[in-house]
Amino acid sequence: MTTKPYDVNAIRARFPSLANALPDGRQLSFLDGPAGTQVPQAVIDAYRDFFLHANANSGGAFITSQRQQQVEDDAHRAAEDLLNAPKETVKFGANMSTLNFQLSRSLAKSLKPGDEVIVSQLDHDANYSPWLWLAEDFGLTLKVIPIRTSDATLDIEAYAALRSPRTKIVAVGMSSNAVGTINPSKEIVRLAHEAGALTVLDAVCSAPHYPIDVQALDTDFLLCSPYKFYGPHAGLLYGKLPLLERFGRYKVRPAHDLWETGTPSFEGMAGTTAAINHIAWIGREFGHTGAPTPLTGRRAEIRAGLQAITLYERELIVHLLDRLAEIPGVKVYGITDRDQLDHRTSIVSFTMEWATPTEAATHLGADGIQVWDGDFYAVNPVAALGLTERGGLLRVGLMSYNTAEEVDRLIASLKELAKASGVQIG
Ligand SMILES: Cc1ncc(COP(=O)(O)O)c(C=O)c1O
Repeated sequence: MTTKPYDVNAIRARFPSLANALPDGRQLSFLDGPAGTQVPQAVIDAYRDFFLHANANSGGAFITSQRQQQVEDDAHRAAEDLLNAPKETVKFGANMSTLNFQLSRSLAKSLKPGDEVIVSQLDHDANYSPWLWLAEDFGLTLKVIPIRTSDATLDIEAYAALRSPRTKIVAVGMSSNAVGTINPSKEIVRLAHEAGALTVLDAVCSAPHYPIDVQALDTDFLLCSPYKFYGPHAGLLYGKLPLLERFGRYKVRPAHDLWETGTPSFEGMAGTTAAINHIAWIGREFGHTGAPTPLTGRRAEIRAGLQAITLYERELIVHLLDRLAEIPGVKVYGITDRDQLDHRTSIVSFTMEWATPTEAATHLGADGIQVWDGDFYAVNPVAALGLTERGGLLRVGLMSYNTAEEVDRLIASLKELAKASGVQIG
């Protein structure tokens, strides 16, 4: 694979929406990616092509239905390549949350009152509430892995101690949507299997930032959402084939698939293929092969693309952390130790002594700099960090198309707000 230097301008040129501007002409800076990224032109084209040439339901004896089937098959192969999953092990759904409710309800048939589900305090609520309601409805015990508040990492020793012979499911995120912490997912899965439990990994905030290999992780289930990795609004569920067959349950009788029941968003499937192909393109253009890999074809390209993205985003994280340090009263939550950056993604969240997250987001938004404030549905971690009453966090999501100049623009706007709040800046 070629190793041209990462060319962020070449990447940005593929995203027409990055040219959006405020009414006064100032361009927007999209630092809101963790809530949903922008999409490359290829995704927009895939939607148009689907509606122009393949807009039919499945199973018809005519050409547009045959094209639709091709779109569906292509999307499944692409999703399998993204996750390095075996054939027929990735299912499409509305979004991660809905799929996780479907998964948790389907797993219930193997559970008895008193059985235990382990979740984590670091997770987005989409990997917490489904298990909370399941526990309530079926008399299960919910156990929660605590976070260390000093750096917002999971306490893996506490997790190991929480396990018991009654532990049946461990449902944990791969990385945090609030503070960027990357959890040791492989070790979490190993410890779950040691206790005889099934694992459900939430990869929503990992998929855009680093390669995911479900076979290397050995996880039983994994969920993610294409709209977080440059694709359309949809959800993906990976499951080991025997488990998908054993637990697939809630479908209408004639449906041929145990998990994809009802008419899905075929256009979303077309867009998902295009988003995954975009990542593979990054791999072909700017790919970093890293450690030797037995992967070939698109799987190898996707891996190389995501490795290139990781390295690029690492530079942006360092730049943002360095520049935030220039502003008094800013406190970054999560991992900031420069030697530990392997254990965080480029989601960087902080508070300011001189403004609430909402005040800062509003000021930045008026300047065309788009960031999120609040808890981002990461209700538990924000509460554990003691930030609920203070309006949560200001979250900057650095994605593969963001630039150091956008970080500088963010800092300039924040400094302006700090000065207006009476802060002395050297
Ligand atoms: C880490 C994480 N998990 C789950 C979700 C929920 O995903 P979806 O919107 O596809 O239901 C999100 C959405 O922000 C998320 O960030």
